[in-house]
Parts: sequence; C-alpha cells; structure tokens
Amino acid sequence: MGLYFPHHLVFFLLLAPPVLCQVNDFISIDCGGTRNFTDTSTGLAWISDTGLMSHGTSVQVENPKPNSTQYLNRREFPIDGKKYCYTLSTQERRRYLVRATFQYGSLKDEDTYPKFKLYLDATEWSTVTIFDAARVYVNEMIIWAPSDSIDVCICCATTGSPFISTLELRPLTLSMYATDFEDSFFLRVAARVNFGATSKDAIRYPDDPYDRIWDSDLEKRQNFLVGVATGTKRIETLRNIDVNTREHPPVKVMQTAVVGTEGRLSYRLNLEGFPGNARAYAYFAEIEDLGPNETRKFKLDEPYFLDYSNAVVNIAENANGSYTLYEPSYMNVSLQFVLSFSFAKTRDSTRGPLLNAIEISKYVQIGAKTDKQDLAALIALCLMSPEIALTNEGDPCVPTPWDWVNCSTNAPPRITIINLSAKNVKGGIPSELNNMEELAELWLDGNSLTGTLPDMANLINLKILHLENNKLTGPLPSYLGSLPSLQELYIQNNSFIGEIPPGLLARKIVFKYQDNPGLHKVSQSKKKHLNLVIGTAVGVSVLLIILLVGGLLLIRTLRRKASRTKSSDRKGYSLRASTKASTAYSISRGGHLRDEGIACYITLSELEEATNNFSKKIGRGSFGSVYYGRMRDGKEVAVKIMADSSSHGDQQFVTEVALLSRIHHRNLVPLIGYCEEEHQCVLVYEYMHNGTLRDHIHGCADQKRLDWLTRLRIAEDAAKGLEYLHTGCNPSIIHRDVKTSNILLDINMRAKVSDFGLSRQAEEDLTHISSVARGTVGYLDPEYYACQQLTEKSDVYSFGVVLLELISGRKPVSQEDYGAELNIVHWARSLIRKGDVVSIMDPFLVGNVKIESIWRVAEVAIQCVEQHGVCRPRMQEIILAIQDAMKIEKGAEGSQKMSPSGSKAQSSRKTLLTSFLEIEPPDLSNGFLVPSAR
Ligand SMILES: *[C@@H]1O[C@H](CO)[C@@H](O)[C@H](O)[C@H]1NC(C)=O
Ligand SMILES: *[C@@H]1O[C@H](CO)[C@@H](O)[C@H](O)[C@H]1NC(C)=O
Ligand SMILES: *[C@@H]1O[C@H](CO)[C@@H](O)[C@H](O)[C@H]1NC(C)=O
Ligand SMILES: *[C@@H]1O[C@H](CO)[C@@H](O)[C@H](O)[C@H]1NC(C)=O
Ligand SMILES: *[C@@H]1O[C@H](CO)[C@@H](O)[C@H](O)[C@H]1NC(C)=O
Ligand SMILES: *[C@@H]1O[C@H](CO)[C@@H](O)[C@H](O)[C@H]1NC(C)=O
Repeated sequence: MGLYFPHHLVFFLLLAPPVLCQVNDFISIDCGGTRNFTDTSTGLAWISDTGLMSHGTSVQVENPKPNSTQYLNRREFPIDGKKYCYTLSTQERRRYLVRATFQYGSLKDEDTYPKFKLYLDATEWSTVTIFDAARVYVNEMIIWAPSDSIDVCICCATTGSPFISTLELRPLTLSMYATDFEDSFFLRVAARVNFGATSKDAIRYPDDPYDRIWDSDLEKRQNFLVGVATGTKRIETLRNIDVNTREHPPVKVMQTAVVGTEGRLSYRLNLEGFPGNARAYAYFAEIEDLGPNETRKFKLDEPYFLDYSNAVVNIAENANGSYTLYEPSYMNVSLQFVLSFSFAKTRDSTRGPLLNAIEISKYVQIGAKTDKQDLAALIALCLMSPEIALTNEGDPCVPTPWDWVNCSTNAPPRITIINLSAKNVKGGIPSELNNMEELAELWLDGNSLTGTLPDMANLINLKILHLENNKLTGPLPSYLGSLPSLQELYIQNNSFIGEIPPGLLARKIVFKYQDNPGLHKVSQSKKKHLNLVIGTAVGVSVLLIILLVGGLLLIRTLRRKASRTKSSDRKGYSLRASTKASTAYSISRGGHLRDEGIACYITLSELEEATNNFSKKIGRGSFGSVYYGRMRDGKEVAVKIMADSSSHGDQQFVTEVALLSRIHHRNLVPLIGYCEEEHQCVLVYEYMHNGTLRDHIHGCADQKRLDWLTRLRIAEDAAKGLEYLHTGCNPSIIHRDVKTSNILLDINMRAKVSDFGLSRQAEEDLTHISSVARGTVGYLDPEYYACQQLTEKSDVYSFGVVLLELISGRKPVSQEDYGAELNIVHWARSLIRKGDVVSIMDPFLVGNVKIESIWRVAEVAIQCVEQHGVCRPRMQEIILAIQDAMKIEKGAEGSQKMSPSGSKAQSSRKTLLTSFLEIEPPDLSNGFLVPSAR
C-alpha cells in the first residue's frame, strides 16, 4: 500500500506518528456486539466477537453507557461449571495492558446481581461483583506476554449469569511498567487517578496513546478519594508538559493537579483486591510559576514508609525544570484495602504539596498452567477428534478442567484422568501419553483407534486403562505386565495378536481381553509354540507393512504437530538457560533493562564507531578507562570501559546499570546506555564538556582560575547531587568516592556528580576485603577506615575535603604543601583553629572575595571533617551553608562586619573554636594508607 499511495502514508505519519502504529496493534472486542464499527469519538475500531466466541448469547443492555456503541450489548454465558475463554494473540515477551469491562445495564426484579470470576490464563484476575447495574466495571492487568497468545476466561459464577461487555488489548512500550518481578507476577491495576480533572469523564485514547483509562478525581463512588484536606485547590495549565519518562502518562492528565494551599494534601480510597504488595507511581509536574524565592518541597507523610517518607520531593529540581514530569515510583510496597495517603510541605517550603496523578497496581502471582508434557499429549488427542477439539478452551485444568479430563491440585497441575469414551477419536494412540506420569485413568474405549500400543511404560500411576471396542492391532507389549499401579485393563473387541504377556495373567487385576481373534495365552508345547511364533511373525509383518504404509501419513502429521509443540518449548527453555549462563543476574535484571529503553543497549560495534576505535582517552575512572565518543546522532558521550569484568565485574556492572537507570537528578551525570559484549562491560554517559573539577582547581597554570562564586555554585550543585543520593533514593545511596575528579562540569560549568552507584556491590563483598577500605587517599573518612561502618557521613567527610580544596586550591595530599602533616585536613584545621582563614585561601582569591563568605564555607568544611560521623552535618545543612556563602558573596549587605550573616558566621565560628579545645583523637586519614582498590 505504501508503494501505491505514498502520499497517504506521509499524510498519516505527519498527523500522528505514534498513534498510527498503536491503533493498528490495538485489539478492541465488543462482546455480544453484532457488527464491527469505529467509535467516532475515540477513533477506536471495535470488532464484534461473533467470530471469536461460539458460546453464550448476545443480550441487549437496557441502560447502556451513553454514546458508547460497545455497551449496547453484552455477551452472557450459561450458568454451569464451565469456563468460557477468549484467546488473544500476543507477541511473546512484550508488555501489554489487558482490559475487560462489564456493564450489566439494569436489573429486573427477578434477576440477581452476577458474581463470577475472571481469569487470565491460569491466573485469577478478579472476582467480578456487580452492585450497580449502570456502572461500567473496569478490570485491567498489565502483563509481560508469556507466549504467543493469552486466554481471558470467565467462569465460576456464584450468583447470576456471567457476562462480559468488552475485551481490549493494548501493547505498551518496553520501558513501561517494568518490574523486578514480572517473571512471576502480573500487575493488576487498582487505581489510576487524574487529579484536578476538569470533568467527570475519564481520560483515555486518543489523549493517552496507550489507551489507559485515567479516572477523574471528580467521579463519585463509594470511598473513592474522600477525606480531602482543607485548602485543596484544583489547578490547570494549557502549557505543554514534558512527559518523557518511563510511563509516558498523557500530557492532558499532567496539565491538571491539586495543590494543598494549607500545606497538606490528603486522600482516602479503597483498593480493590488489597491488602497486598503493590507497584505504585506518583506523577508530579510543576505547573505553577513559582517566584524566584519560592520553593515547593514536600514529603509523603502517610502511610509512613521508612526511606520513602524521608525523601523530600522538590518537583522542579527532581525533574530539572517546571512543566516537566517527575515520576517517582515504589517498586514494592505493602498496602491495605483502604489506602490513606497524604503529602505535607516541609518547613522551609513556601508552597504546599502538588499532585498530578497516581497509579497503583497489585502484584498478582502468575498461576501455574498445566504441565507442558501433559498439554502436548492432550493436544495430540484433540487432533484426533473434531468432537472434542471444539469444546476445549483455555488451560486444560485451570480454573475449571475441560470436561473430559481431571487434574491434580499440584502446581503445575497434572492430568489424572482422561475420559474419551465414545468420543469419535480416530488414529493411533499418541506416544506423548507416555509422559503423563500422574495419569491414573485412561478411558479410550468405543472409538476408532488403530495401530499398535505405543510405549506407556512410564505411566506408573495408571490404575485403569480402557481400550475396548477399538481397532487396535499388534501384540500386547510386555510392560503391561509390570505397570506398578494397574488394577483394571480392558482390551476386548480389538485386533490384538500374539501371546498375552505372562505377567498380566499372573497379576491380581481385572483383565478383559475377549474378542481378539489373534490373541492367546502362552502355549504348552514347544512345537506348537514354534509354529505359532512363525505364524504370528508372518502375520505381524504383513500387518505392520499394511499399517506402515496406510498409517504413515497420519502418524507423520501427528508427530510433526506434536514435535513442533515440543521443540518450541525446548527452544524457550534453552533460551532462558543460556541467558542465565551469561550472567546469573541478567536473567531478571539485565534482560529487562535491555528492554527498558531508559538506559538503552548500545552494541560494541556502534561504540567502536562512535569512539573511533577507542582512540581518544579522556580519563581513567575508578573502574576503568574513559573514552570520548560521538554517536551517530551527534550526541557526545563518555564511554567507560569497566576494567575488571572477570570476577565481580558482570554482577557489579548489571547492578550499576540497574541502579543508574533509576536515578535522575540534574546534578548527577546521566547514564545514556550500556553494552555487555565479549566480556566487555561498557557504560555510556553524557559527555561533560568541561571535564573534572580537579582539572580546574589543580590543572595546568594557563587554565583560567575559577572565581569564588563559580566555586560556590559548583559546590552547591555537587552537594545537591549527593543530597539526592542520600535522601531522594531508596535505598539511599552512599557514593563512597567523593572527590574533585568525580565532580564533572558541563558546558555551562554546572556540576554533576559521577561514578555513583559503583560501590554498592562491594558492600556485600566486604567480608573478604574487610581489611581494605574503598575510597581515595586524602578523601577517606577515618572513622569508616577504622570501623568499616559506612554511612552517609563518610561522603560528608570526603565532601569536606572537596570544600577545603575549593577554598585553598591545594591538593588533598601533598608533602610539599603540608609538610609532615601530609594532608589538607590537619593543615587547614590547625590554621582555622587559630582563626587564620586567609592562610588557607587560594592566593588567587585573596582580595577578590568577601572573607565572611570564605568563613562560612570553611566552618562547614571543618565540621564535615570531624572525627566522628555523628558530629558532621548532613548534606542539607551543607547546602544551606553554601547558599549562605553565596548570598554573602553577592551581598546586598555591603560590609562584612556589619552584616547579619556576618555576625551569625562570627558566632558559629566561636562555637567551632571552642569545640577545638577538646582533645582530638588521632586522625587515621593520613597518606600512608594505600587502599588497594585504586
Ligand atoms: C469484523 O472484523 C473482523 C476482523 O477484521 C472480521 O474477521 C469479522 O468477520 C468482522 N465481522 C463482521 C460482523 O463484519
Ligand atoms: C452524545 O453525543 C452527542 C453528539 O455527538 C452529544 O451531543 C451528547 O452530549 C453526547 N452525550 C453524552 C452523555 O456524552
Ligand atoms: C515485595 O516485598 C515483600 C516483603 O518484603 C516480599 O515478600 C515480596 O516477595 C516482594 N515482591 C512481591 C512481588 O510481592
Ligand atoms: C521573597 O518573597 C517574599 C514574599 O513571599 C517577599 O516579601 C520578599 O521580598 C522576597 N525576597 C526576595 C529576596 O525576593
Ligand atoms: C536541565 O535543564 C537545562 C535547562 O532547562 C538544560 O539545559 C539541561 O540540559 C538539562 N539537564 C538535563 C540533565 O536534562
Ligand atoms: C472429575 O472429578 C469430578 C469430581 O471428583 C467428577 O465429578 C468428574 O466426573 C470427573 N471427571 C472426569 C472426566 O472423570
């Protein structure tokens, strides 16, 4: 088509590029509908289910949802013990949103409200209970397609007739709704709420290209968003919102929000299906224009989660700007049926909390499907009888078994009984039956089975075997005499020949074998025996030849079918197995990350091209060399090759990628992609044009020296990056190697912290490297070195050293500069103790800065390098000190001595000096320590 009407295509592509491909992949089934149609308000194409579902009847709905053709009819199923399934084709290992909706219409006097179950494959999805006939009940599940199709089944009605109104399948992008648990859990959507909505109508396609349904917070139903805090105000904007996050919520949803003008936002709602473990998302976009000295900072107040509740949300900062979405999410939180939540502003914030949307889904354990070997045998049997093939839907055992089988209650379920008496089954008994180890009863009597008995020696639980009234031929295999559980064997009226295995006659079992002309017991005389053997042999060979020729085609087809099923299973298995072999971790993590698109996978060859075969080395990071590169799209990148990928390399690598791809802050160097090939682990970061802070402070003489305000801004940026690692991440991250060479400067000289997340893995390894502390000489926290007690305060110590470098322009360790003391901490401390800050100042700064501003930073720096972690400030306090220093330096205040900040600095300097009168414990952070990790 593209060839004949190229201008058409272009037209469509220009109109709505993402939408075009989405809609083609959408499956929208109007259950009970009689015709196909396109909904003019949404543009969705609905198809009638008449060709997809042969059971049940179409029932006209009396009070259909207005303007929605898909709700004019519903499909109602018989009230029986059976399940009724729709099969939807999927792409294996792709993520989908599956939605089933139910609108009953109206209830006549004699009706009872229906209550029944909904299954997705063998997974119990939900119990549909209709209380309000007019309401459209929506059930959504987010799945990672386990195979090339899924079954949505309705069953197990306890009252009323089970029914369904629509069934929808929406493909998602690979990054959306990824979880760490998707091999064993689906996500059942419990709430997806658009706050500050402008009407009661839910937002869906085309506003949401993925056709999620975002409920309006104005909708009225029982215990839905009650307990609203006073002062809650609805706000909206018409400006575009950058929603380029993983979940890509629709712009229209992000354009509205609620704000707690009195400092608080709170809500209460019921979560269907809970208590349970949840994946929860909050969507925040700053859509008010805040003044220059205004801030919006808030915390999750309730429910209280350790870690989460300590994290301060500062939307514009977390998202790097207003009108940009920030999307924190909780991978796994335990929630109750009634969820109360509230956000409260922090004390230093001028504005109250803001919320655009939330999304909460419950982890639902994926139910075990029937054993694959058993399934293969059942499929082989289905192919032999058109009569039974029609009646089989969904899984053979779950939620209710097919009517000709019974199952065990194991996981996965196994088939215990096959009852195909007189079901018009034709052909040879499939050899796959031999894999059904749990089979206890096999009823195949009264059919047209032909051929010889296959090997069924593995059926050690088989008690009852009915083969009578068929056309089976050949000898009775000897294993029949030794099946350990066999109690009853019926083979009458067939064409078996030869001797009955002596074992069969000797056993105390029910054994019926009359009307098999060629069959006989073991003879007495040897001569007779011999004749018989010859006779039988001839007979058997003739028969076999006939059978072979006659049945060859049939058998072949069956085998081919069966082996196809088998080999595809095997393929799936070995694929997994090999993934597992490459990195133990990658099966659940790496595998997903590769899909997530957030830190995208970049091939080695692309990197070789981008870096011109790794020709321009720009540095040596803690874990390997760093090269400059330029991707095909022109993006400049820093490519870090992990030096040691042999021992803990792979694992550490995957850990880092997993971690990094979750962390976004404007003061942290963003990870663009990664590569894991040929034992090379490579991380690709955004290129920072102005290199490291170290180069700017200690670089060659011809470099332009940084002025004090620039240094302060860099310090503030880096501190914010670290603060985010400490308080904004869960679990919180300790950098462990804060130093000037890990603080990078972008093209605007804004600082970003790099190399974080590298050391987490090492924590687990501490047992066998316990004598070695990680970190860099001169920056190493002495307390950590002595006790191996790692806390955020270790980063604070290192950051204190960075601050001292910024003030002094000197290196952290140097015999030249500091003499016997060797390091900057001792040297600076003793000078500051004497009140002599000028002596530690970078000569370049002396005379060009307000001394009070230097003092403010020097004080906090000295607090940072306190011997004991508990005495050191938190990053938050350090940021305030730096901001103070910036204010002083820019100073409306004029003279340093007269300024209020100046006197405040003065007074805190006094306390500082007093504290130095205490006796100091020996400082272990001297230059003689050589951490082996460097
Ligand atoms: C509706 O569309 C489907 C798929 O395109 C098609 O198979 C089916 O025959 C159509 N049904 C009717 C009633 O036109
Ligand atoms: C249904 O559609 C008509 C015309 O498209 C519109 O005027 C009417 O308001 C709609 N009704 C509802 C309840 O949306
Ligand atoms: C979530 O956390 C709970 C408690 O820590 C744990 O038992 C569970 O396995 C986790 N994952 C899921 C999917 O529930
Ligand atoms: C900050 O805002 C307040 C009002 O909220 C105003 O009174 C004050 O002058 C502002 N300060 C600066 C430095 O802009
Ligand atoms: C943050 O925002 C600024 C300006 O809005 C932009 O120049 C910069 O590239 C952004 N940084 C990141 C990491 O997105
Ligand atoms: C399966 O078991 C149930 C209950 O034990 C029984 O009613 C049913 O007839 C059995 N089905 C078959 C096919 O044997």
